[in-house]
Amino acid sequence: MALLIKNGEIVTASERYVADIWCEQDTITRIGRDLPVPPGAEVIDATGQYVFPGFIDPHVHIHLPFMGTQAKDTYVTGSRAALMGGTTTLIEMCCPSRADDALASFDVWMDQAVGKSACDFTFHMGVTKFDENTPAQLREIVARGISSFKIFLAYQGAFGINDTELYRTLKLARELGVIVTAHCENETLVAERQRELLAAGRTDPGQHHESRPPLVEAEGVHHLLTFAELTGAATYIVHLSCREALAEAIAARQRGVHVEIETLIQYLLLDKTMAERPDFEGAKYVMSPPLREAQHQAVLWNGLRSGLINTVATDHAPFDFQTQKPMGRADFTKIPNGIPSLEERVHLLYTHGVCSGRLDLATFVNVASTQAAKIFGLFPRKGTIQPGSDADLVVFDRQYRGVISARTQAMNVDYSAFEGWPIQGRARVVTVRGEVAVRDGKYLGTPGRGQFLRRTPQHIGVPD
Ligand code: URP
Ligand code: ZN
Ligand code: ZN
Repeated sequence: MALLIKNGEIVTASERYVADIWCEQDTITRIGRDLPVPPGAEVIDATGQYVFPGFIDPHVHIHLPFMGTQAKDTYVTGSRAALMGGTTTLIEMCCPSRADDALASFDVWMDQAVGKSACDFTFHMGVTKFDENTPAQLREIVARGISSFKIFLAYQGAFGINDTELYRTLKLARELGVIVTAHCENETLVAERQRELLAAGRTDPGQHHESRPPLVEAEGVHHLLTFAELTGAATYIVHLSCREALAEAIAARQRGVHVEIETLIQYLLLDKTMAERPDFEGAKYVMSPPLREAQHQAVLWNGLRSGLINTVATDHAPFDFQTQKPMGRADFTKIPNGIPSLEERVHLLYTHGVCSGRLDLATFVNVASTQAAKIFGLFPRKGTIQPGSDADLVVFDRQYRGVISARTQAMNVDYSAFEGWPIQGRARVVTVRGEVAVRDGKYLGTPGRGQFLRRTPQHIGVPD
C-alpha cells in the first residue's frame, strides 16, 4: 500500500523543513514539495503538524522472569503500548537466568516476539554467565544478527556476573566488534547495605534508595569502564541516574574509553520522595538504580542538551501494584524492580523537554530516536527521514492536550507512575514501514507484522 504524508514539518536530528513524504512498500522513496497524489494511495494531511522519524526505545523488558515473578506485558500488549506512544522500534533485553544457556535463551526471547510484535524489534543479548560454552554460543547469536550484549554488575545471584566473567565478556565483545550495554551498580555494596537496613528493621520501599545511593552506581560505572579501558571494548551505560555516575563516565571518556550513556524518562521527571510515599504507595516507584534526589534532574537534562548523554530510554519493566509489588510489603528488597513507561516516554519528553524549553526539537529527536539507531547499528534504516529509510513515521499533533492515566493506557499493568500528569502534544498517526498502526488515539496495528532487525557488529571502540 502506498502512503503519502502531505505538508508536514519534517523534523530530524539535523534538519527541519516542510515537505511531502512518499512511501512505497516498507520504505520512504521520495521527499519533496507538492508531490502528486497517485490514485489508490492513502493520504495523510500533516499540515501544521510535525513529522518525526519513528522513535526508538533502546532499553525495554517484555519477557522478563525476574525477582520471583514475570513482567506483565507480552509482545502483543507491549508493542501496542510502544506504538501508541510513537515508539516504532524497541530493543529488548534478552535476560537468561544463570542456569540457562545463552543460545537456548535467545530462541526463547525470539519466540516471544516473532508473530506477535506489531513494531520492529531487536535484542541486546544478556551475558549472565561466562562458561566454556558461552563464547561459541555468543558467536552464533552475533551471526544471527545481534550486535550488542547486556551485562549486569548488580543482582547478585540472579543476572549479575563476576569480574572474571566481566573481563572475558568484554574481551570477546572487543574481538567480535559488538557494543556492551551494562547495568552499573556494585552488587557487593548493595547486598551489604540491604542486609544492614533489614537488620535495623528498615523494610519500607523508601529504604531502596538507602541501599543503592549514588556512589554505589558511580562505583559500578568506574568498575565497568576500568575493565573497558583494559580490554578496549565499546560500552553503553544503561539507565544512568545521577551526577556521580555521569562524572565517572565522562572521566573515562576523557581517558579515551568508548562509552555511550543512556538515561531514562523516569530519572528526568520522578524523584526519590515518590518511593517514600506512605502505605506502600512508594513501591510503585521502586526501580534500580533508584529514583534520585530531584537535584540530579538538572544534571541529566544538561547532559542531554550538551550531548554528554546520548539516549533517553524507559527500561520498561511492568509489575502490577496490586499483585506483584506486594511481594515486598515486609521487605523492600523483594519488591519487583521496575517502573513501566514504554507508552509515555515520547509524550513526556516532548512535554517536559521541548515545551518547557529544556531541549530543542532536533535534540529531542536525536536522544529519543537517532542516537539509538546510530549506536546500535540501525541507522539510517531507522532513526531518520530520508529516501531509503523505513517508513516509520510519527505525525505529531502539537495542539493535543491530554492526561496520563492507568485507566486509558495500553500497557498491561494496573498503575501509572505518571497518573494525572498532563501531556502536551501526541503521536496522532504512527506508521510502521508504511502501514498506519495508530490514528487519532486508536490502535490499528497488526500483531506479527513487526520484524526482527538483523544487525551487524560495528567494530567501534579503541583501535589496537
Ligand atoms: O528496576 C529495574 N531497572 N528493572 C528492570 C531490570 C533492570 O535492571 O534493568
Ligand atoms: Zn538494569
Ligand atoms: Zn533494564
